[in-house]
Amino acid sequence: METAQPWATGPAGGTGSAQTEAGAPPDALDHRAALSSLLPVSMTCAGCWTAKTPFPIVLQGRARRDAEVPGVGRGCKGGGAVPAAGVMPTFQFLPFLALLGTLGFLCVVFTGFWSQHWRGGFAWDGSAKMFNWHPVFMVTGMLVLYGGAVLVYRVPSSWVGPKLPWKLLHAALTLAAFVLVVLGLVAVFGFHNAQNIPNMYSLHSWLGLAAVLLFSCQWLMGFATFLLPWSPAWLRIIYKPIHVFFGSTILALAMAASISGINEKLFFSLTNKTVPYAKLPPEAWFANSLGMLILAFGLLVLWALAMPAWKRPESLEAQQPLLH
Ligand code: HEM
Repeated sequence: METAQPWATGPAGGTGSAQTEAGAPPDALDHRAALSSLLPVSMTCAGCWTAKTPFPIVLQGRARRDAEVPGVGRGCKGGGAVPAAGVMPTFQFLPFLALLGTLGFLCVVFTGFWSQHWRGGFAWDGSAKMFNWHPVFMVTGMLVLYGGAVLVYRVPSSWVGPKLPWKLLHAALTLAAFVLVVLGLVAVFGFHNAQNIPNMYSLHSWLGLAAVLLFSCQWLMGFATFLLPWSPAWLRIIYKPIHVFFGSTILALAMAASISGINEKLFFSLTNKTVPYAKLPPEAWFANSLGMLILAFGLLVLWALAMPAWKRPESLEAQQPLLH
């Protein structure tokens, strides 16, 4: 019984013809198996069914419901080409992006509200108010902006047409994130130096600095390899999987640094002399929730990066030179 497979959802869902799984031509099965790895679960292959897709797909810029994809016409008999080129699932990812946007916005708002409401607000004068910029800049830059930047190539419209504008957008967003990260570090080092507090002693600071150093190398290497015109094609091909791996690693480190930083700040601030952390005062509730929001945001970005259906199809990758 193959009801768990994508092709079983079309006619059963009432969107296609009266053809049933049992009535599918046997030589179409291989073809459908290949398609199932390309199409999101709720889409139906019209090459093997006369079915229509339950959601619009965009084919060479035009949204349509009938999956008349090149090479997968009704008579494909299983030997037709798999329709990687030109097929873009526009649904699922965009609502997911909206959810991520909301979560990211909440992360920034929660961080700002915590610093403003419970930690005395903001200043740039070497005081504890200067420190308060540190979490705000770090969460905004290293987590939310960076998290958005790494998803640029998952936007379906980036799969067709010239790649260069998307590369520039990716580079610009990560650069903006990097500027915020530098400001966040200046805020915390400036505060420590003004108050004679030792630097770089905590696990949080080591994790954080590792994330920032990797991020700097990643940006420079990405710029030199993918944007400079004289970088050789073999280097781009070899370096790309490394860049992708470290892209996720840096986000994971940023999550670890943010969560450990929140915990450390709570231990520093909610001492037994004031309101003990162990009594779980409202500030602790709030900041713990911020940590959980950061965790949810980061994990969802990592999940989106790993989803095969949201990756640019390999065939399109081969069609578009890495430089353009
Ligand atoms: C990706 C995000 C973050 C990175 C990369 C990061 C990085 C760093 C670094 C490198 C330091 C050492 C500064 C020094 O030694 O003078 C530091 C200090 C500190 N950070 Fe963060 N941070 C991040 C997020 C946060 C967040 C969200 C908080 C929450 C309040 C926080 C709280 C602190 C605290 C309390 C210190 C001073 C104590 C210490 O050195 O550990 N950080 N951070």
